[in-house]
Amino acid sequence: MTRRWVAGIFAISIGLGAVALYFGAGAYDMGADAPHWEVTRRAIELVRDRSIAAHAKNIDLPELQDEKLVSKGAGQYAAMCVNCHLAPGMADSEIRPGLYPQPPNLSEQRIDPKRAFWVVKHGLKMSGMPAWGIGHDDDTIWSIVAFVTRLPGLSADHYKEMVTNAPPDEEMGNMKMDGDKSSPGKAKDRADEGGSKPVHPH
Ligand code: HEC
Repeated sequence: MTRRWVAGIFAISIGLGAVALYFGAGAYDMGADAPHWEVTRRAIELVRDRSIAAHAKNIDLPELQDEKLVSKGAGQYAAMCVNCHLAPGMADSEIRPGLYPQPPNLSEQRIDPKRAFWVVKHGLKMSGMPAWGIGHDDDTIWSIVAFVTRLPGLSADHYKEMVTNAPPDEEMGNMKMDGDKSSPGKAKDRADEGGSKPVHPH
């Protein structure tokens, strides 16, 4: 019995040593153009799906049919998501083919809203999917989710129309305000800028 234990521990040590040597020597190809083994891909997807399901379980779903919310989300989606997740009538983008894992085409794939909210807010490690909750409040994220649940049914024309009619982004709106004459402080800043012009001759 003791001999078997010793032999077993010896075999495991050899195995772990070989793995450490393989990774330590840099033999593993970290390139995004070298696909995972099938077993690795399945393992990662299982961990991802179990994690999202567990974390999204207790999220309270708001009313997502509100047209104002959907309209706001259309503008957000066009500004932040379309390059990776495409839109109706869009075959592909410049960035998407090179991403690994490849972002799902959200104009064709329906995603459960709670799952979408959690993923959009927190992002996904080692995938390129950003955590939009850093810099965006929950209301904004719900607007995006409301639009994403509507997206698979839209025609290319309807998509364009919704994006065109979307309200201006509040954050971008605030940026525009910086140059607004209605704000005396900002007007003064602009005057200062004007005064400093000769320092930078063209
Ligand atoms: C730089 C590229 C990139 C951008 C920009 C991006 N995503 Fe993603 N997203 C990804 C990738 C890659 C995945 C797939 C991750 C995976 O398969 O594990 C993903 C996954 C998702 C999923 C999960 C799909 C599922 O299977 O459950 C949702 C929902 C999603 N993104 C929504 C969005 C929304 C909404 C935006 C804009 C606010 C956005 N993404 C912006 C790359 C991106």
